[in-house]
Amino acid sequence: MSIDPEIGFTADIIRDPSRFVGRTELIQGCMLAINAPTGLISVYGKRGVGKSSLLRQIQQMALGEYTLAKNAGIGHLIPLKPRKYLTAYYSCDSLIADGKDLLSRLCNDQSAEDSLLRLVPDEGKEIVEFTRSKEVSAGADLKVVNWGAKGIESTKYARAVPGDIVQTFRNYVDAIVTHQVKKRMKRDGLLILLDEFDVIKNKDGIGSLIKSLTTPEVKFAICGIGRDLSDLVNDHASIERLIEQGVLPVKPMPLPESEEIITRAVELFKGAVQFESGIGTKIAQIGQGYPYFVQLIGKKCINELNMRNATLVDQDIFDKVVEDIKSGKAFPTLEAAYQMAIGNSGDRQILLHLLADQNSEQISSDEVGRIVLKSARQDAEELNVQYVDQLIPRLIEKKYGPVLERVPERQGIYEFVNPVLRQYIRLREF
Ligand SMILES: Nc1ncnc2c1ncn2[C@@H]1O[C@H](COP(=O)(O)OP(=O)(O)O)[C@@H](O)[C@H]1O
Ligand SMILES: [Mg+2]
Repeated sequence: MSIDPEIGFTADIIRDPSRFVGRTELIQGCMLAINAPTGLISVYGKRGVGKSSLLRQIQQMALGEYTLAKNAGIGHLIPLKPRKYLTAYYSCDSLIADGKDLLSRLCNDQSAEDSLLRLVPDEGKEIVEFTRSKEVSAGADLKVVNWGAKGIESTKYARAVPGDIVQTFRNYVDAIVTHQVKKRMKRDGLLILLDEFDVIKNKDGIGSLIKSLTTPEVKFAICGIGRDLSDLVNDHASIERLIEQGVLPVKPMPLPESEEIITRAVELFKGAVQFESGIGTKIAQIGQGYPYFVQLIGKKCINELNMRNATLVDQDIFDKVVEDIKSGKAFPTLEAAYQMAIGNSGDRQILLHLLADQNSEQISSDEVGRIVLKSARQDAEELNVQYVDQLIPRLIEKKYGPVLERVPERQGIYEFVNPVLRQYIRLREF
């Protein structure tokens, strides 16, 4: 019988704490931040490293659901009376122009489980408690089961002020705090979680906006791609006092932690699948600290297992999966990005591989992942690649990916935008 790979592996954001692996120090940091009366929580790191999944775990803990911390062995650090919140969760997109635009989105989003609007008291609207994980004892949040006969119209208890989105937002939040947070659910506050925060176009003043909206009852958590907090909030001087706690950089996973993704998957498969000893380590090594890649390879192994009607992922299955990666058959999305970057040029292909293979020893250790164009150029010339300068633009142009991104203020130093793609290129044979 065919086994569903999704039982053990997923390429999605992890919401269920029982699927979340490792990250003990970050979880500890999250607990401190959640339980501080004021402050901003910020989660940043590279693509595919596990930011959004951590953000969803912050949401769980904010609801009072601390299974994750207990399982991570830091249950003793849970406060006696943890602060509990109601939560709203919103994923930003690049059409959001600025801070005000963001507030307007928050006031209009209609997700039944995650929107801010669902919490605004309104006649006719029915909301019920629900838990965000399978645990019976889990902390509850509220969700809408019926928006009411009059549709979505939140003017009953919270006044929308035409032309003043900041005030409208304040009114909504005040109404939520008074009626839902305090009266109905008896919580300590409202936590507004904002994912993909980096894509907001103009971040001028966004720090001071967040600061002005943050109170002991209202807390923000922002999450996005970045090297540091200033990639998410450019006026971060204004939030200095908010960030004593809650700055959470997500780094690539250590090898044993990546390996644990496989162990955890085996548990989740409940005996239907085994991995031959040593295979987990090999998958973790290929993953290079990026849980996304580990999950993808795990899934592929299960697919191959199903083809063979077997239950043990052995060396043979692993080899087949690696073979498929090398030949470009395993991951269509990564393969498409690879082909798009190359754009039918054998020379560019060589250059791209040289760049991906470059080891970062020549630059300092806090710059791991960066590459020096000059040395790739020399190597390329040795391999008779011509017109290197004409090959590069496609690699940094947005419409072709981009694959590379210039590191600001560091001449000639670039970085792969997607570290998982870099690792894929390293494995890819040509
Ligand atoms: N702690 C974790 N344990 C297991 N898998 C994880 C963990 N964090 C992330 N993943 C997996 O990695 C992939 C990327 O996670 P995601 O949170 O979307 O990363 P990001 O937001 O940084 O791009 C997903 O497939 C997710 O299932
Ligand atoms: Mg994400």
